[in-house]
Amino acid sequence: MKLRNGLGLVLVVAAGWLAVTAATPPKSSKGDATRGKYLVSIMGCGDCHTPGTFYGAPDMKRWLSGSELGWNGPWGVVHPANLTSDMETGIGKWSEDDIVKAIQTGVRPDGRLLAPIMPWQTFANATKEDAHAIAAYLKTLPPVKHRLLPLQPPGVKPEGACMIFPPPPAWDAPRTAPKGAGH
Ligand code: HEC
Repeated sequence: MKLRNGLGLVLVVAAGWLAVTAATPPKSSKGDATRGKYLVSIMGCGDCHTPGTFYGAPDMKRWLSGSELGWNGPWGVVHPANLTSDMETGIGKWSEDDIVKAIQTGVRPDGRLLAPIMPWQTFANATKEDAHAIAAYLKTLPPVKHRLLPLQPPGVKPEGACMIFPPPPAWDAPRTAPKGAGH
């Protein structure tokens, strides 16, 4: 009897441990995905990165899977990327640290600097904790296959629909040469 009670206790402890383990996010996650979801909802990520949002009809089935609407300026033509966990067309292969680096310094894992349309210069002000929370949330997004046009260098006739940014007027000219895609 004593032995059976002892065994029961071990089983209860083990079951408790399993329940705790199942509820804890993967060890690699440094961020709070619930807070990340909230931050993404107020930081405008979906405006640019979800098809249809700028037309008043976001396609929630393809939430954050990138947009066909390009941004054409001195950096060439860029498209808001697919942020879902799809391995081929999204950022499924990126680590959370890769995502934090991109949203806070504009640098992708391949070293390319993101165009200033992606507001990483503003997101650089987020705390590390919040940046990791955003990354943790993006990692929970189900994969959506949605391939966007690749970066088009400046001067190439743009493919597809895009918003056009003419060269900056003198009073608003950047003080340094425009950095971004392709530089
Ligand atoms: C004003 C539009 C806009 C907003 C708002 C915006 N992005 Fe972006 N984002 C872009 C564009 C455009 C690109 C592609 C830039 C390029 O390729 O140079 C991009 C690229 C990215 C990338 C790089 C992905 C890749 O495959 O290269 C990440 C990660 C990203 N955005 C995350 C976010 C997150 C998270 C938010 C909200 C916190 C956000 N973005 C808000 C426009 C936006």
